[in-house]
Amino acid sequence: MNDPRAPRPHADPGEVAARVKATVRPKIRAMAAYPVAKAVGMIKLDAMENPYGLTGEARAAIAAAVANVRINRYPDGAGDELKAALRRSLALPDDVALLLGNGSDELLTMLTAVVAKPGAVVLAPDPSFVLYRTNAELANLRFVGVPLAADLTLDVDAMLTAIARERPALVWLAYPNNPTGTLFAAEDVERIIRAAPGIVAVDEAYYAFADASFLPRVLEFPNLIVVRTVSKIGMAGVRLGYAAAHPAWIAELDKVRPPYNVNALTQAVVPVLLAHGDLLAEQAAAIRRERARVAAALAGLRRVAVFPSHANFVLARVPDADAWFATLKDAGILVKNVGGWHPLLANCLRITIGTPAENNALLETLGRYA
Ligand SMILES: Cc1ncc(COP(=O)(O)O)c(C=O)c1O
Repeated sequence: MNDPRAPRPHADPGEVAARVKATVRPKIRAMAAYPVAKAVGMIKLDAMENPYGLTGEARAAIAAAVANVRINRYPDGAGDELKAALRRSLALPDDVALLLGNGSDELLTMLTAVVAKPGAVVLAPDPSFVLYRTNAELANLRFVGVPLAADLTLDVDAMLTAIARERPALVWLAYPNNPTGTLFAAEDVERIIRAAPGIVAVDEAYYAFADASFLPRVLEFPNLIVVRTVSKIGMAGVRLGYAAAHPAWIAELDKVRPPYNVNALTQAVVPVLLAHGDLLAEQAAAIRRERARVAAALAGLRRVAVFPSHANFVLARVPDADAWFATLKDAGILVKNVGGWHPLLANCLRITIGTPAENNALLETLGRYA
């Protein structure tokens, strides 16, 4: 009777489908799950990861830290030791409050949740990171995308006009922007922060590859929240993001944070990696050098245009993004075909910077094909 392997009757699939249809929000049923391409055995240049592994010494330090984690216990809900390690590594003053997220993805969701009043608007340049829009729609908020200029720079006048018209509760500025790699002018960002009635979240996922940041200025404005992630500097697997802001903002965000959202292994590992800051900085510098080399080589190909990038990827417009993507895939190289995401991205590929050998494989394949 209680044999778990004994065959049990299954609910009728038609009835399951009918219940799903009757119960799940139509908006969700019409959506697609966030696509993650399978990349086993491929050169992976599609997800803005750091391509470099860790040295043996760093690995051993991580192993030792993990060995001591008491995984029978819930993690520290506030993540105080991890916050202290972040503060040390960022030289962050005590009066700036921090909030940790399970990846910055989770912080994006929390920021959207705290402003989700009926009728509230979320606004961002378009194209930008897709989750700004998805999160707004999931929270039943209206998303207003303000098109970038044709050269993918910020149309600050259009942004200011839209802000005056829409009075958004939340404005997202990816700084540098994904998927374009562009870095908006600091004066423009400042004008937007001053004009916006609600939160301006400056998302600095790619800060390590740019020479600009609003983190040192986070307390200068009453409505600025800086969001970052450790994903792009070499720790995508641990899933950690942080938001820095005036304590009054962080106190509200903390109310929508799931308890224990940052697991004990992440809390143990990240401080060890942050203590290897020189290694991470060297890797970021190598990625920037390779970015310059890859961008120049791509720009030298016939009929290819490369947009200036301040991130760990480059956006290139090619004659036929579908065909170029397929050619690379056949050669075992996975990039992101963003050509269908937005009219301004027509025929664009987003190419994450890999190791020199990976980048050579990319450039050789495209050099033969172009
Ligand atoms: C602009 C931007 N913000 C946030 C994220 C999310 O990063 P994570 O959830 O890995 O911290 C990404 C990921 O690509 C991104 O491009």
